[in-house]
Amino acid sequence: PELFGAARRNARGWDVTDQRDLDAIEAARAPFRTTCFEASPLIAVTVTGATPYKAHNPADPADLVGTVTVCAAEDVEAALAAAKPWTADVALRAQVLNRAADLYEQHFGQFFAILAREAGKSQLDAVGELREAVDFLRYYALQAQGLTAPARGVFACISPWNFPLAIFTGQIAGALAAGNGVLAKPAEQTPLVAYLAAQLLHEAGVPRDVLQLLPGDGATVGAALTSDAQVNGVAFTGSTETALVIRRAMANHLAPGAPLIAETGGLNAMIVDSTALPEQAVRDVLASSFQSAGQRCSALRCLYVQEDIAEEFRAMLFGAMDELRLGDPWALSTDVGPVIDPDAREQISAYVETARTQGRVLHELAAPDAGFFVPPVVVSVSGIKALEREVFGPVLHLATFKAADLDHVIADVNATGYGLTFGLHTRIDSRVQHVVERITAGNTYVNRNQIGAIVGSQPFGGEGLSGTGPKAGGPHYLTRFTQQRAQRATD
Ligand code: SER
Repeated sequence: PELFGAARRNARGWDVTDQRDLDAIEAARAPFRTTCFEASPLIAVTVTGATPYKAHNPADPADLVGTVTVCAAEDVEAALAAAKPWTADVALRAQVLNRAADLYEQHFGQFFAILAREAGKSQLDAVGELREAVDFLRYYALQAQGLTAPARGVFACISPWNFPLAIFTGQIAGALAAGNGVLAKPAEQTPLVAYLAAQLLHEAGVPRDVLQLLPGDGATVGAALTSDAQVNGVAFTGSTETALVIRRAMANHLAPGAPLIAETGGLNAMIVDSTALPEQAVRDVLASSFQSAGQRCSALRCLYVQEDIAEEFRAMLFGAMDELRLGDPWALSTDVGPVIDPDAREQISAYVETARTQGRVLHELAAPDAGFFVPPVVVSVSGIKALEREVFGPVLHLATFKAADLDHVIADVNATGYGLTFGLHTRIDSRVQHVVERITAGNTYVNRNQIGAIVGSQPFGGEGLSGTGPKAGGPHYLTRFTQQRAQRATD
């Protein structure tokens, strides 16, 4: 009864509107303002001596955040040879994962410092990251106790830089809770936070040959992990293109039954009709498109506003946008931080420049002088069909629609082939029903923002080009990490 009942609670987290929590955050982060952190392979064998490189803060490239040693090909081979499933019984596994959750919470100052300085996370985002990571650990620890099937063996967990703690931890916790061993490859841009997390998982009691950390690039580490027959499954979050590369590698080298659990991209829309509460819709549009500098797979990319209210809505949206504070994510007042690296800035900026030459830039903020910033921008578009790809940054496309064309809008959104998040603002109940029944998206949100799914209550993950399922933070996630068997059957 405890499994899905009231006994489970998500972590309290930190309230960034409460001065007492802000004071506690300030005090706990302060010792790590200039710390040079470290990341290196955590593998169960001797590591070859690769040359460390230096990692810098995307908001301030003069800030040296850490030194990183990546895996050489021999290290990956050695880690694969040493990898083992977690044979401890489920009660012990759950206890260790719960202990890790406690250790994560105790290290909040260090995590918040690294998340700001390595990943450019605003404090609001950093709080969300740590809370989600802790929730994943405790939720899967609890879910594991209801599993009846054995583990598959060893999983490769390949995680993204945009949720370098939450998704990194969620994949690992899912695999471990079910009794698998893990070879974890953190994103190249964010090994420092992963290194701290992996150390805490070891400290909590996960054996070193059961969880190994392999920092490095996709060509050396990712390719080796996804094409080694000792690997029994892959959990991946990242681009749709990379998911297809991984699927091909797995098809060529892994057993045919080895699962790929992929969470990939989105081309997410929101519809705001003329009955919506404009203040609420504006607030939710801003959060959905510009929080995390738009670097969420769940982020709103194409907003449809009903023609009748479009002019008034645009004026309110642009006015509210002007209040966003763009800058160093270390500052507690910052709403929008940098994008992850110079390549991201170049790609997004080039896209915005093309839109500008076409006269489609409707509103834009100013960028700080230093750091890899892209200012939030709104670009006009005829509809979602005109978007060729996901632009992974603070770029919101704005379209209008006539009430009579609602079903065409739904058809166009579905026709992208993606199906991750979708937002709807309306006060007509029958319209909620109508749209929700027709839209093909993994996570649909009504009269709220469309980011920040909560473990346990909003299982997260898409369909079509957006992912394979099962949903992270949902009751079916762990089953994919197990081998279903029917035994001792009678008729
Ligand atoms: N789970 C995140 C969100 O809901 C995206 O990965 O925003």
